[in-house]
Amino acid sequence: MIIVTGATGALNGGTVEHLLTLVPADRIGVSVRDVAKARHLAERGVRVRRGSYDDPAGLLDSFEGADRVLLVSSNDPGVDTVPLHRAGIEAAVKAGARRILYTSHQHVGLGSPFGPARVHAATEALLADSGVAWTSLRNGFYAHSLDWFLGPWRETGVIAAPADGPVSWTERGDEAAAAAVVLAGQRPFDGPVTLTADAAVTFDDIAALASELTGRVVRRVVLDDEEWVAGQVAHGSPEPMARMLLGFFQAARLGRFDGVDPLLGQLLGRTPRTVRDLLADRAAARGHTGGT
Ligand SMILES: NC(=O)c1ccc[n+]([C@@H]2O[C@H](COP(=O)([O-])OP(=O)(O)OC[C@H]3O[C@@H](n4cnc5c(N)ncnc54)[C@H](OP(=O)(O)O)[C@@H]3O)[C@@H](O)[C@H]2O)c1
Repeated sequence: MIIVTGATGALNGGTVEHLLTLVPADRIGVSVRDVAKARHLAERGVRVRRGSYDDPAGLLDSFEGADRVLLVSSNDPGVDTVPLHRAGIEAAVKAGARRILYTSHQHVGLGSPFGPARVHAATEALLADSGVAWTSLRNGFYAHSLDWFLGPWRETGVIAAPADGPVSWTERGDEAAAAAVVLAGQRPFDGPVTLTADAAVTFDDIAALASELTGRVVRRVVLDDEEWVAGQVAHGSPEPMARMLLGFFQAARLGRFDGVDPLLGQLLGRTPRTVRDLLADRAAARGHTGGT
């Protein structure tokens, strides 16, 4: 049986939808914190059991009969998530899974200024020590995060943010579809695999693209790091969150998100969606709302 955690979240929820097109529903089980949120899956024949990284016994029960387990990386910003991931790995091993998969990130590094990269590095080390075959799906940076990182450029004509670097922004739905292909297929992917769009772009590139797509000049303005953090805090962001996000810019400047890999396109059988696609969607949506 293929077990998917985080199936009531966006990424692995998408993965289950794609899995349902690839394997019979009775070969899929989901381990979710709130079974009521997975009723739509139970109705289609997916086994739904309660499981949380905070509850090892329940987690093990939800992994019963597992051949492959896909562990979602926790999204909890307030806690050290590595012990939670360890609980997931231990439960998968105990359940007898023959392969453990994990939703990692394209940038993994214990010394990174970007906090999630440190979590993923520690988790991948646990996977390597688990004694079970493992696959780390090193997903590209979600492209829709640009809606937040770029700010209200459509209203202001300005992209104001700290100095950045190239990032291979990748559509989350593409990552979900590719994970399903890996989970359902027979090709063994051992260790880390990188799943990104085909190109890495900077905010300068994005400003140029936005200008081209909207027909008006969109300027890139570089803010001082501390000035940017102060601005975030003044707008209500907790300082630790603002500093975590500053870590994104610092890591981007070091070129940590600039990798691209053709594997995602190969798994999808098409070109992954690009930043241009995303901006074109946003520009079109603005056209429909009649904004200026
Ligand atoms: N590549 C990127 O750019 C990027 C960006 C942001 C985040 N991420 C990472 O990718 C993950 C998946 O992204 P997403 O968009 O699907 O996020 P999401 O919609 O917030 O989903 C996260 C899932 O993790 C589950 N979860 C959280 N803590 C858990 C725990 N203790 N035990 C079991 N399940 C737990 C949540 O369960 P509930 O449904 O019950 O809440 C949810 O289903 C995130 O959690 C985060 O680690 C990656």
